[in-house]
Amino acid sequence: MAFTTAVPEVALRSGNARPMPAIGMGTAKFPLVPETAMDAVLAAVELGYRHFDTASMYGTELLLGDALAEALRRGLVASREEVFVTTKLWCTQCHPHLVLPSLRESLQNLQMEYVDLYLIHWPVCLKPGPRVFPAKREDAVPFDFEGVWREMEECHRLGLAKDIGVSNFTTWHLDKILAAATIPPAVNQVELNPVWQQRKLRAYCAEKSIHVAAYSPLGGQNWSGEGNPVLESEVLAEIAKARGKSVAQVALRWIYEQGLTPIVKSFSKDRLKQNLEIFDWELTDDDLIKISQIPQKKIVTAADVIFSPEGEFTSVKLSDIEVVEE
Ligand SMILES: NC(=O)c1ccc[n+]([C@@H]2O[C@H](COP(=O)([O-])OP(=O)(O)OC[C@H]3O[C@@H](n4cnc5c(N)ncnc54)[C@H](OP(=O)(O)O)[C@@H]3O)[C@@H](O)[C@H]2O)c1
Repeated sequence: MAFTTAVPEVALRSGNARPMPAIGMGTAKFPLVPETAMDAVLAAVELGYRHFDTASMYGTELLLGDALAEALRRGLVASREEVFVTTKLWCTQCHPHLVLPSLRESLQNLQMEYVDLYLIHWPVCLKPGPRVFPAKREDAVPFDFEGVWREMEECHRLGLAKDIGVSNFTTWHLDKILAAATIPPAVNQVELNPVWQQRKLRAYCAEKSIHVAAYSPLGGQNWSGEGNPVLESEVLAEIAKARGKSVAQVALRWIYEQGLTPIVKSFSKDRLKQNLEIFDWELTDDDLIKISQIPQKKIVTAADVIFSPEGEFTSVKLSDIEVVEE
């Protein structure tokens, strides 16, 4: 019998979905070696992970679906209902008529009847077309928040997405969705870690009962090329030493203690196991004060991550699509 860790769960607002396990395994990796990722998902299931994060943009839906089907065949999970799967709508599909077909395509890749959570990946709309990365700045067009959210709600009504939500949304973008929503977003998945704590956004989401999931909880995969401010933090290293934990565990535990859900990527069995071992110990008040004083630095911006540096934004203002807020 494999060793598995019991993971707490968080009920999402609709009450309709399976509760969200309090840590998710990320699957974004560029460049991707599908066999490595698939082995990692199977190892994660064996260790006790039941929450998996993918996106149409990552190219990992198919391998995640294959790995979870294999986990079912091997009896590592008893049924589809045991796992919580999130996928996301890419920017080129953020047009009302493309929302439902995009989810159907994702479900086909995942070989599933439904996802537990479907997110708008970014508050950025690109002209319809192939998912080219990086995108041309000229291809950014105004986001029809009302029309797109109406179709997200339709995905939920059809039972294809048990919960719906957003990602990389600031309070300004959330205001737009909430003004149009019959079903408010259950989740906002954003960059969040001890070095980018998002206090304003967290307070707003708490007030509106929007659960916050934290991506790049360990500072990401060096997306900026400038090193890793979380894993290299001296403050976190000092706390980790005192607690007999790793820096990664301190960062993940801090996120969990804030009432948020870390979505962490590792394709190493040892680190997957280590990242799961955060539920049976606590940070001290003094640790929390020290972490609250860490200088803040955002890594991911729409301008840098989605778009090529060349060209101009011709139909949108960068300030309307940018995701930096503190
Ligand atoms: N919604 C969005 O726009 C968005 C954006 C970015 C990410 N995400 C999601 O969030 C997930 C996680 O974010 P992320 O991949 O940016 O970054 P992350 O989880 O903060 O960091 C991942 C990096 O940390 C390493 N790592 C993992 N555990 C470790 C440990 N215990 N000690 C030391 N290093 C460790 C991993 O390497 P190894 O694999 O070698 O362990 C990997 O290089 C993604 O996979 C994706 O699912 C969403």
